[in-house]
Amino acid sequence: MAEKQEAKLTLPDGKEVKLPVIVGTEDEHAVDISKLRAESGYITLDTGFMNTGSTKSAITYLDGEQGILRYRGYPIEELAEKSNFVEVSYLLINGKLPNERERKDFGTNLTRHSLIHEDMHNFFAGFPPTSHPMAVISAMVTSLSAYYPDSLDRDTDVSIHITRLLSKLRTIAAFAYKKSIGQPLMYPKNSLNYCGNFLHMMFAVPSEDYEVSPILEKAVNQLLILHADHEQNCSTSTVRMVGSSGANLYASIAAGILALWGPLHGGANQAVIEMLEGIQKSGISYKQFLEDVKSKKDNTRLMGFGHRVYKNFDPRAKILKKMCDEVLAHLGVNDPLLDIAKSMEEVALKDDYFISKKLYPNVDFYSGIIYRALGIPTNMFTVMFALGRLPGWIAHWKEMVEDKDTKIGRPRQIYTGDKVRHYVPIEQR
Ligand code: CMC
Repeated sequence: MAEKQEAKLTLPDGKEVKLPVIVGTEDEHAVDISKLRAESGYITLDTGFMNTGSTKSAITYLDGEQGILRYRGYPIEELAEKSNFVEVSYLLINGKLPNERERKDFGTNLTRHSLIHEDMHNFFAGFPPTSHPMAVISAMVTSLSAYYPDSLDRDTDVSIHITRLLSKLRTIAAFAYKKSIGQPLMYPKNSLNYCGNFLHMMFAVPSEDYEVSPILEKAVNQLLILHADHEQNCSTSTVRMVGSSGANLYASIAAGILALWGPLHGGANQAVIEMLEGIQKSGISYKQFLEDVKSKKDNTRLMGFGHRVYKNFDPRAKILKKMCDEVLAHLGVNDPLLDIAKSMEEVALKDDYFISKKLYPNVDFYSGIIYRALGIPTNMFTVMFALGRLPGWIAHWKEMVEDKDTKIGRPRQIYTGDKVRHYVPIEQR
């Protein structure tokens, strides 16, 4: 990474500050302000971090203008078509595609660590059946640090915790679902691979045989791959922020799960389906709905549209739209919500409001419709996103921990409150 160029900043008092320019592998440019305050007393203000790079990272490259997304250099389109979720997890975390032996060992370890401590089953029983599964899985992931207390030791072998987490989140997610519908928990089956095992734990019941459908398994693999990383998004930045304090892996990932839950982030897949169902039930036309969005009536947004980084198209949405047609056709599902979604997309893409604001379908626009077709209930959609994003969070946590330049994340602020004033006893107020 070259650090040769320099930018100059002239402050109101005429003082000039020289700032190094950092250039990334793909010719991305940044002004390095790390010494700005020490040299000038000034800080930068960037609400929502629209222009702020929080770290250097070698994991994921994305270009929002060109619609490019690559994990460790590999285009998302190639990975979604040719790889599987376990291999992509290995790639993100270890920085290279595994050879035959490495892939086998990694897969075997994930299979062996799929059980959770029997005592943790009591936790599921303690939650009310109406609990949102995101609340349950985040609590469970935090609890893993209680069951594996060596994770609190900063010299611990993180690889075993990484394996446990990757394997057990899948079990926890499926158990949370089973509890919510009052069905017996289905233990993992070692003969199945990662995604097949997840489907088994979700949909099998002890009273009958369950055969994992190869179509469903492939669809889950692809969905998880598409969600596996997205560089410094809200939840990943949260994982890095929490981890920068020295918090253990489980605590850092639990924080990421909670950040993901919001409807502007991973919660959007659930919000899209609720929006489409709302349109269907209310009887208003989708065109009227789009008019309400444009006039910002009740702050209505077209959920599943728009992205902080993609300003042309989201390459994940492109893959998902095609996949949506294929999966629904394979399963013989005819979902009226898909018709509404497609009609809205067609109109929105020609409408000046959406064009001028560069709003395009994002990864969440079609993923919910696919999950529905697979039989996954709406409140589990964000859990699916979490399952997919997990290797990305882990890769970033590991990269941060291993980076000798890591410092605790601690932004500054511009204070806009009262100047000093003195305490007034209550009887004088
Ligand atoms: N529908 C209608 N208007 C929108 C939308 C939308 N989905 N998204 C942005 N806008 C408008 C917004 O009102 C604003 O208009 P104005 O300039 O008149 O104030 C302008 O576009 C810029 O919006 P912003 O909120 O300042 O942009 P942002 O970069 O801060 O927000 C976003 C990005 C994803 C939060 C936003 O586009 C959004 O709320 N989308 C809907 C929720 C969604 O689908 N989220 C999933 C994102 S992809 C999955 C993930 O990685 O999390």
